[in-house]
Amino acid sequence: MSERVIVIYDSTFGNTKIIAETISGEFKTGTKPVHVSEISVEALSDFDIIIVGSPIIGWKPTEKTQLFLDSIKAGMLTGKKAATFDTRVKLFIHGDAAKKMAEKLKNAGAEIIIDPQPFYVKGKEGPLYDGEIDGVKSWVKKIIALL
Ligand SMILES: Cc1cc2nc3c(=O)[nH]c(=O)nc-3n(C[C@H](O)[C@H](O)[C@H](O)COP(=O)(O)O)c2cc1C
Repeated sequence: MSERVIVIYDSTFGNTKIIAETISGEFKTGTKPVHVSEISVEALSDFDIIIVGSPIIGWKPTEKTQLFLDSIKAGMLTGKKAATFDTRVKLFIHGDAAKKMAEKLKNAGAEIIIDPQPFYVKGKEGPLYDGEIDGVKSWVKKIIALL
């Protein structure tokens, strides 16, 4: 695969980070995922595919993730492909982060290549439900097939 991929994440208890690392591993990028506080929006111009993940906090992406995505100017991601995922608990009303992040990336010009994807943790601090890592790997396979 010749496309340059970046995986950006936020994580308090480490579960979203584990998923981001699994995604990077499946893409065989040879690079680690980047914490959202360690990348500038300008650096996104170096990549073809942008994957963003966040826990749902209070029905939304984390504050840091929202600030990062809101600072991307309209049109800045034109020609780039993007996908988003979130981690969440199994609640009747859990809110959403992945869809909200996809909407922001789309507004910045990116093409959203796959439906925003939830992954589930057993409680606030995790761990991930059994089988979620396999779910992550299948999700990445679907993305690669769409490129
Ligand atoms: C302050 C707080 C608010 C949360 N709000 C939600 C929520 O609205 N919906 C939900 O599904 N999970 C909610 N959670 C659970 C988080 O999604 C969960 O802690 C997260 O997926 C763990 O990811 P991490 O290990 O990467 O931090 C909340 C957790 C915290 C600490």
